[in-house]
Amino acid sequence: MICLNPKKKFGLLGMNHRNGWYTLIRNPRRLYPLVDDKLKTKECLESHQLPSPELYFSINHNFELKFLREIKFLKEFVIKPARGAEGRGILVLVDKVGTQWKKASGELLSMDDIEYHVSNILAGLYSLGGLDDQAFIEYRVRSHVAFRAVAFQGVPDIRVILYRGVPLMCMLRLPTKESDGKANLHQGAVGAGLNMLEGITMGGVHHSLLIDRHPDTQVPIAGLKVPFWESMLETAAKTYEVFKMGYIGIDFVIDQILGPLILELNARPGLSIQLANREGLLPRLRAVDAYGAGVEELSWERRLEISREMLHKTSSFKKETKA
Ligand SMILES: Nc1ncnc2c1ncn2[C@@H]1O[C@H](COP(=O)(O)OP(=O)(O)O)[C@@H](O)[C@H]1O
Ligand SMILES: [Mg+2]
Repeated sequence: MICLNPKKKFGLLGMNHRNGWYTLIRNPRRLYPLVDDKLKTKECLESHQLPSPELYFSINHNFELKFLREIKFLKEFVIKPARGAEGRGILVLVDKVGTQWKKASGELLSMDDIEYHVSNILAGLYSLGGLDDQAFIEYRVRSHVAFRAVAFQGVPDIRVILYRGVPLMCMLRLPTKESDGKANLHQGAVGAGLNMLEGITMGGVHHSLLIDRHPDTQVPIAGLKVPFWESMLETAAKTYEVFKMGYIGIDFVIDQILGPLILELNARPGLSIQLANREGLLPRLRAVDAYGAGVEELSWERRLEISREMLHKTSSFKKETKA
């Protein structure tokens, strides 16, 4: 393991630069409520025939907690705060054992535990800015077989950063024992950089340290081919046309039966994707901007071409800075 020492020459994008230059300018404020609320996002995705995990029901107020009794008919499901982030407040329940449900970590939860958790969600314990929130129950995605050997219990997700509608940088995030079924880096998941031309993983990052093997399964992280790669990039480029946010992270999961599904959109996507890819975002952002005004108005097919052209251009930048 080595610790990466970020250097300007690698074109790393910092937080102030991202906020002041990219998200502020490219993401209209009026659109934030749509992506900061997962229920609204799901509704919007569904109305545009974009795939996401099926919503079973939502709980909006304390007096609706009685509806939670319906989960006794469910063997597996996921509970989420509508305005949560970084995996906080998400319960992935993978099985029913008697009158209890099992989390990915193996811990058992009773109906009372779940009700307590949902009332905490409603009180805003996990929501952005601590505001009152809604909870929802959705279909539990089952990980695609391609990830079985490497991921620990939960479902890996694929983060696609889209800039002006052009896929810019991607990473595969793999759950660990510590992350408890969730693929968020803040929860202790592993991030693996992705060669976007082929959808094949490169090395990984875990708690800001560069790693080569998954910490629980010890399986090598590099060389994994992500299934449905082309169709996922295509869906990402089409999703831009619906949400029209110029700097966005889209989280995909791949269900073993349903294929790629969109979990959420993130208007302030994290910067660790650069560590996972051992490459800064700035050269890629600049390469897209070099296409001038109106990139976002181009067809999704052309924006995918631009993405490939941008990758070819910036890979020569990478070679030069390494030399
Ligand atoms: N329906 C689901 N089925 C299985 N795992 C899920 C599901 N929804 C979320 N997860 C797990 O939780 C992680 C975080 O989910 P996400 O919806 O992106 O919320 P957050 O905004 O907190 O990142 C995902 O990367 C995935 O590993
Ligand atoms: Mg997420």
